[in-house]
Amino acid sequence: MIESNKVKKILYGGDYNPEQWPEDTWEEDMRLLKLAHIDTVTLNVFSWAMLQPAEDIYCFDKLDKIMEMVTRHGMKVCLATSTGAHPAWMARKYPDILRVDEHGLRRKFGSRHNSCPNSPTYRKYAVALATKLAKRYQSYDNIVAWHVSNEYGGECYCENCERAFRKWLKDKYQTIEAVNEAWDTAFWGHTFYDFEDIVVPNMLSEHFGQNDRTNFQGISLDYKRFNSESILNAYRLEYDALHAVTPDIPITTNLMGTYQPLDYQMWAKYMDFISWDNYPAYNATPEEAAMRHDLMRGLKQGKPWALMEQTPSVTNWHPYNALKRPGVMRLWSYQAVAHGADTVMFFQMKRSIGACEKYHGAVIDHAGHENTRVFREVASLGAELEKIGSLTLGARSNAKAAIVFDWDNWWATDYSAGPTVRLKYCDEIFHYYKAFSNLNISVDLISVEDDLTPYSLVIAPVLYMVKPGHDERIRQFVKAGGRFVTTFFSGYVNDHDLVTVGGYPGKLRDILGIWVEEEDALPEDMHNSFTWQGTSYPAVLLCDLLHTEGAEALCTYEHDFYAGMPVLTRNHFGQGYAYYVATCSNTEFYHRFVGDLCTESGITPILHTREHIEVTERTNDNGTFLFLLNHGTQSHTVTLNRAGVDLLTDREYQTGDNLILAAKDVAIIRTAL
Ligand code: GLA
Ligand code: ZN
Repeated sequence: MIESNKVKKILYGGDYNPEQWPEDTWEEDMRLLKLAHIDTVTLNVFSWAMLQPAEDIYCFDKLDKIMEMVTRHGMKVCLATSTGAHPAWMARKYPDILRVDEHGLRRKFGSRHNSCPNSPTYRKYAVALATKLAKRYQSYDNIVAWHVSNEYGGECYCENCERAFRKWLKDKYQTIEAVNEAWDTAFWGHTFYDFEDIVVPNMLSEHFGQNDRTNFQGISLDYKRFNSESILNAYRLEYDALHAVTPDIPITTNLMGTYQPLDYQMWAKYMDFISWDNYPAYNATPEEAAMRHDLMRGLKQGKPWALMEQTPSVTNWHPYNALKRPGVMRLWSYQAVAHGADTVMFFQMKRSIGACEKYHGAVIDHAGHENTRVFREVASLGAELEKIGSLTLGARSNAKAAIVFDWDNWWATDYSAGPTVRLKYCDEIFHYYKAFSNLNISVDLISVEDDLTPYSLVIAPVLYMVKPGHDERIRQFVKAGGRFVTTFFSGYVNDHDLVTVGGYPGKLRDILGIWVEEEDALPEDMHNSFTWQGTSYPAVLLCDLLHTEGAEALCTYEHDFYAGMPVLTRNHFGQGYAYYVATCSNTEFYHRFVGDLCTESGITPILHTREHIEVTERTNDNGTFLFLLNHGTQSHTVTLNRAGVDLLTDREYQTGDNLILAAKDVAIIRTAL
């Protein structure tokens, strides 16, 4: 992760905003944080107003004092650039930094993450601030990372963006004719004669609903790409400014997991390491958090990453901000580590007294002392992480199975008018992910560009859009002996969302050996069924009506006019097999199907356990670490398939020994290499 000789253990700490407090409280904060074994503070996340109180005035006095103090106390620093919210004077003087929303309304000063990414003013002053910070604090060797801005997101539809969009299109398509072709503008007489005719797609032009429906998928998709790239470019300007001054300090920005507006796979190319903020809802399942962790890990081909934020106890912004029950903060922290995190960080070190986050959990509560449940839990986890030291740092998962996750496909399926509003891309990915997770089998979430050769099984649910070259990589993978699976609503369109004519699933047709003739979208109260290996499963959401063209049908629909048509097919292609799942089914089906695929592919579970016990594995030069996490409410016995020592209790185990894991408890068994 943070590949630096400054990092010798799982960094422990998080967002700390002493500038919001009187200076005479700071030393007590330090005492408390050290008592909790906190070793890293993320500073300066929202301080632009303090650092640049007027256009020509910069003032670093307070940040100097904070840096000096935390350094004196031996803390490491994750130093933010503060560009996540611009100062009020800037908005008053340069309204071009204010975003314009989907209704064409220019925002006023307020909120955060509020700057237009294409505003020359924003870019100029963000870069200036990043440069000044890098120059001023470059000699601090306790800065372990730069944290650019904060949780980038949203979109802007202002004139700056409109102009930049036209330029982006010119660079991409060269001629207006090529744009017309890519967007199929002959439809509804939308032909553009000049790049100047093009306007941003929003509620004033092509969009409707909640700005999430569109008349022209091609235009809207390109705007998604453009918006994600615009914000990325603003980040990259700061990246370059920081890197020029401090080339040895790694640079990141905190991502948000399954965040739809930004193509994190493209972003990852410009980040030195991935960091992300994990805020599961109180009733989220362990597999949901696990999938996001693995998605973030996949952004850099399995490299360890940083848990930049999580709450020690409670959020303020969920509809119901239930407390993390005793032990859950520790369990979820280790879950992140189990999936590749090399840090455990919180938002936040200390609760503010005002504004919307005053009831958000913190290490130091409003009570102001260490005698709280949350403080005790944080301190005890801190002591454990100190004990683990550097052992797990850099360890990787080495999965043999992968699930393809693609932002363009997410955008395109969300924008698609038809076949059903019930199709949710992430849900379809999750059905398969959950099966792997429950089978205790490691799986990577990979992009359409990633190398397939490390895997023997690749599943691409709803691969609706097949980008240039992707089908050929899949073809080669299967030919060479891989097992590939895709599902309904796959292979329909190219990267402009234009249908590949000649029969679905388009470019995947020869690999799968099928032709999909029609697709039946079932409302919630309708379902079909199929029987596979003696068990009956429901067919819901979408049912493809398909013909085999070389593939064998493994089971068929049981009802309606398409009873007897294939549901599950398998095509022997080259040395490998390509499977097609024509419908959406239930957890039992995915569990069984993925289990069978893994057996066929020679992929075995890390360990067999009861329900509620999550199992993962990470390996580095220090050995293999088996993570056992009990998400249930009762203790369970786990029979170990290897000998090793529990990093947390120092207990030694032999192969076949039983380990009793209490509810919410964790074991990390190290097997030396
Ligand atoms: C996000 C932000 C933080 C804070 C937390 C609250 O992750 O990055 O600044 O607002 O949410 O949960
Ligand atoms: Zn804008």
